[in-house]
Amino acid sequence: MHPRISIGIIGTGWVGASVAISVLQAGAAQELILFDARDGLAEGEAMDLAHGASFYPSATVRAGSLAEMQDTQAIVITAGKNGAPGQSRLDLLRDNLAILRGIALQLRGYTGIVVIVSNPIDVLVYDFTQASGLPPERVIGTGTMLDTTRLRQILGQRLALDPRSIHAQVLGEHGDSEAVLWSGAEVGGVPLRSWPGWQRADEAQIALQVRRAAYEIIQRKGATNHAIGLVTAHLLHGMLRDERRVLTVTRVQTGALGLFGVALSLPTVVGAGGALQVLEPALEADERTALLRSAEVLRAAIASVDF
Ligand code: LAC
Repeated sequence: MHPRISIGIIGTGWVGASVAISVLQAGAAQELILFDARDGLAEGEAMDLAHGASFYPSATVRAGSLAEMQDTQAIVITAGKNGAPGQSRLDLLRDNLAILRGIALQLRGYTGIVVIVSNPIDVLVYDFTQASGLPPERVIGTGTMLDTTRLRQILGQRLALDPRSIHAQVLGEHGDSEAVLWSGAEVGGVPLRSWPGWQRADEAQIALQVRRAAYEIIQRKGATNHAIGLVTAHLLHGMLRDERRVLTVTRVQTGALGLFGVALSLPTVVGAGGALQVLEPALEADERTALLRSAEVLRAAIASVDF
């Protein structure tokens, strides 16, 4: 019998609401506590979600304060502005940094795991880790999990395979400098680059399609929310059951692949204690160059903020 799992969600706009319904339908928690700075919004979302109680595993949903979230096992942060059409995630830094820093100060001493979804996620994870004083393994961002999911879906369509059978990863920034680890991509132990009919010349266009996905969606519907909600619920479900899944989450790096002083996504063992072990995948020279460039883009963004 699993212990009663309680999750807090700070920010119940597009993304927070999708995280909430995805968590409930996945049965990832028995209690959800919702908070939003906009008056009445979290309460309205909680009421609406609670009315669906007949259709997800038993759980309670209510509005509550950050103080009421102190005893939860995980707190998801989706607060902040999302990108306007054509706006990069790094463009959101000034607005969202102040919001996340305010939350970090209220969560100093929190004993659970913080999962940040807000953008620019990598810089916000870095700053939140500094401002909260929480250990790097307990301040996680969904990072390039969403990009990895998008890549697998695109490849699944091209190869007529279930995306879950395609092991391909996106590393680095959840953003314009992200890098696809093509050399490590494989299907059933068959390297993707040995797949019948695979054209290496197609890789750049596929990587661009992944990198541009959010822009294309935001231009049409104003935000992205469903896939990131499902990704976040997947992360929480496995983490809080200590399933030790390997996921491309972002966290402050402390030496893997020689990386320090930056938060970005690498394959990481995620369990009850958070982002426990960062793996060091084999990289070809161009992939290492792309990953180091991504780290430099993020370090420059960090340096642009008056920490
Ligand atoms: C996206 C947002 C979540 O990539 O950054 O859709």
